[in-house]
Amino acid sequence: MSNINDDFTMSYMDSCDKIPVLLIHGFPLDSSMWELQFQDIGDMARLIAPDLRGHGMSETTAQYDMSQLAADCAGLIDSMGIQRPIVVCGLSMGGYVALEFYRRYPERVAGLILAATRAGADSEEGKKGRDEMITAVSNNPQAIANAMLPKFFTPQTLAEDEELVGYVNDIMLNNPVEGMIGALTAMKERADSTDLLAEITVPTLIIHGEDDNLIPLSEAEAMLNAIPDAELAIISDAGHLPNLEQPEPFNDAIIEFLEMLTGDTHEHHHHAD
Ligand code: MLT
Repeated sequence: MSNINDDFTMSYMDSCDKIPVLLIHGFPLDSSMWELQFQDIGDMARLIAPDLRGHGMSETTAQYDMSQLAADCAGLIDSMGIQRPIVVCGLSMGGYVALEFYRRYPERVAGLILAATRAGADSEEGKKGRDEMITAVSNNPQAIANAMLPKFFTPQTLAEDEELVGYVNDIMLNNPVEGMIGALTAMKERADSTDLLAEITVPTLIIHGEDDNLIPLSEAEAMLNAIPDAELAIISDAGHLPNLEQPEPFNDAIIEFLEMLTGDTHEHHHHAD
């Protein structure tokens, strides 16, 4: 139903009339990391995957922080005319943005999906690592790709799945150097969200690769314990990008979560009854 004007309310069908899910990519990636989610979940939800400021085909600004990235996402949702609460799904750095989005706009969130991420801020050592990465990427963008790939994938995928590894490598190289430096700085300076976890009142799905060596599984377990209404899906044989390395169990976890959230008993082709 939509109010066309003061004296006429019109009913209509719209294939976008499904729960909106904002998919926020990790570092140093872009929206194309969600390709396998669009293929598989696109028929039951309205998937919206921005390129964050400084990444992909979006514009870059020299400086930005997590609040800016969350505000950019809210601005996008506004510009699309979406008023209902949405599901916010973020992977890794995207999870930092998702938590910031929840901190700023809790009334706009119907559910959270926190994938391969953590609530805490950078340690002192982590901050030093960011500075080293900033120097490395300024000198040679391929250096960052070389440093990230072994952290993204299990050794087996790294050795055997040339196509997937090449796909992710190309996404990284496509990012502007200025944007990557901006993201590294934003991550280095991000707030600690640990205290926020107890205040999350929406259903939350945590998804984590069992073999993630960039953010250990213990971080996901800590969030599971701190968030009142949370569940954890652990993905076997997956590192830091479980959505790409093991798309079927990753997507199934999201589909079940969305069905629970919407009360929809939508039959999906991956669900054998
Ligand atoms: C990411 O994968 O988004 C980042 O590498 C996470 C981080 O470095 O903290």
